Amino acid sequence: MAGSLIVGNWKMNGLGDSVAEIAAIAGSGRPDLWVAPPFTLIDRAVIVAAGAVSIGGQDCHAKVSGAHTGCVSAAMLADLGAGFVIVGHSERRADMHETDADVRAKALAGQAAGLQIIVCVGETEAQRDAGTAEAVVGAQLAGSLPDSLDGLVVAYEPVWAIGTGRTPTPEDVAAIHGFIRGQLQARYGLNGRGVRILYGGSVKPENAALLLGQANVGGALVGGASLTATSFLGIAAAA
Ligand code: 13P
Repeated sequence: MAGSLIVGNWKMNGLGDSVAEIAAIAGSGRPDLWVAPPFTLIDRAVIVAAGAVSIGGQDCHAKVSGAHTGCVSAAMLADLGAGFVIVGHSERRADMHETDADVRAKALAGQAAGLQIIVCVGETEAQRDAGTAEAVVGAQLAGSLPDSLDGLVVAYEPVWAIGTGRTPTPEDVAAIHGFIRGQLQARYGLNGRGVRILYGGSVKPENAALLLGQANVGGALVGGASLTATSFLGIAAAA
């Protein structure tokens, strides 16, 4: 839909020559395209993006600095010229055992650094099959979201749709995005209406129009199909 925000999450993919993809995305002239390359490419990505594409991190530490070997703070991302940070991705919740409290602390750190923050939520297949998708997502929202709406974007990514080629039905997307909207309004009042809610999980050029056409879907968080400018811009064109 017009005005959709399309965010690429490159995950642990990309070497130096991959920034050419970001240069091509930047050259499209399409607004509202964000890309989160691995930390190692952020510096170069910011340069080639030349302000036309917002570059972000896929994670940040909750602290500004200190003895945390291998970690990167939100302040460091901002210092490189990043505009946003993704927190609470399901892969980090699973692989790094991040809790809702951890995710909330990272979200607060991102806000404190002046970044926009994408807070990710989503249920597993077993949870959906058990009929608890809304309960799970509701609990994740309650525990992960900061008290301030500063720069907040929410991403709904059902774990079972990530990298699988499977997606929820358009009706299921509309239903759970409507549920998330209700939770945001209950928490933030009328201001909760304006929070952008992205859908993520096997978004491709072929299914983007249908998924992004659902109520309360304000854009997409894209993994595999964000790795080349061609497919990423194909999604943007369909959005
Ligand atoms: P895929 O688009 O590869 O399913 O990944 C979605 C995702 O996890 C984006 O954060």
